[in-house]
Amino acid sequence: MSYGARIAGLGSYVPETVVTNHDLAQVMDTSHEWIVERSGIEERRWVKGGEQGNYDLAVPAAREAIAEAGLEPEDIGCIIYATLSPDHYFPGSGVFLGRELGIIGVPAYDIRQQCSGFVYGLEMAQALIANGQYEHILLVGSETHSPGLDKSTRGRTISVLFGDGAGAAVLSRTQADAPNRILASEVHADGGGAEDLWMPYPSFRQPEIMTHADLDAGRQYPTMEGQKVFKNAVKRMPEVVRSVLESQQLGLEDLDMLIPHQANLRINEMVAKLLRLPPEKVHNNIQKYGNTTAATIPLCLKEARDLGRVGPGDLVCCVAFGAGFTWGAVLLRL
Ligand code: ACO
Repeated sequence: MSYGARIAGLGSYVPETVVTNHDLAQVMDTSHEWIVERSGIEERRWVKGGEQGNYDLAVPAAREAIAEAGLEPEDIGCIIYATLSPDHYFPGSGVFLGRELGIIGVPAYDIRQQCSGFVYGLEMAQALIANGQYEHILLVGSETHSPGLDKSTRGRTISVLFGDGAGAAVLSRTQADAPNRILASEVHADGGGAEDLWMPYPSFRQPEIMTHADLDAGRQYPTMEGQKVFKNAVKRMPEVVRSVLESQQLGLEDLDMLIPHQANLRINEMVAKLLRLPPEKVHNNIQKYGNTTAATIPLCLKEARDLGRVGPGDLVCCVAFGAGFTWGAVLLRL
């Protein structure tokens, strides 16, 4: 017996503290104009370090998604937690989320596909529902980047881009041929780009995972070959959008809304241009939240839905590209 999977509920949560570009210019050599021109970002949310961790953002987002699905936490059969900024090296954040929701015994996968984490998670959830394993899966994308960023001028190329936040979806079983469900998905990886966007330390490849000298050199901070990431993103994202549409004998003209990963507004404008999609068919909110990595797609999808930009019956494509490199797209009818 095979089933379909549909999004039954969405939730989101961002920390209260708004950090503007002007705030960043107080602590590093940057400017509002530079950041807006290169990335489109105007502000982002950062946790108050030490007061809120990753799963503290995920819990309210998850509760909202579960309530919107008309369910109780006990109805969830499985947790998939996408993050690159887990509370601890181990165990993963999923077990903490399950504990906070009071659903002891429910399996929890943490997945590490960075900016593509939510798209990978949607594919996994769809497959686990399709084969009958679970009826309701809670998928979360949650990030607390801010404690891990170099907030001095040395780290400015990266630190100005990232924000904290969480988004969640409940995926529920439906009929295999139901009109409103995930129609297709496609995910990819190319480790040839692994060192182009990464956080190399702490590293179990080293005799000691982290030394004082490593800390002094700032090796605990992420590094990025920005232009290489940009070029690969604008190639892979349009490619995979076309591919999932073609797999369903659909075309770009059938698409109601593109929900792209929010890494950089310039990337998304280029992707839209390459796909010849008008602005009303692409939703962006990086201006307010920065790049929240695994959380961008649920934050963006929920916002588009709440604003009435997408609704039941609409054909939506979620697409992402990020560290790994990893990329992918999910095509769904809401
Ligand atoms: N403020 C002011 N000046 C800065 C800043 C800053 N925050 N950061 C860098 N600069 C300076 C550099 O030092 C450099 O100065 P120089 O010319 O005197 O040497 C100059 O600005 C240009 O720096 P570049 O790094 O070459 O800037 P670039 O035009 O490549 O823009 C950016 C950087 C925005 C990161 C761009 O490469 C980009 O968009 N890359 C795509 C990757 C991306 O967006 N990643 C997000 C996370 S990854 C993901 O989610 C996919």
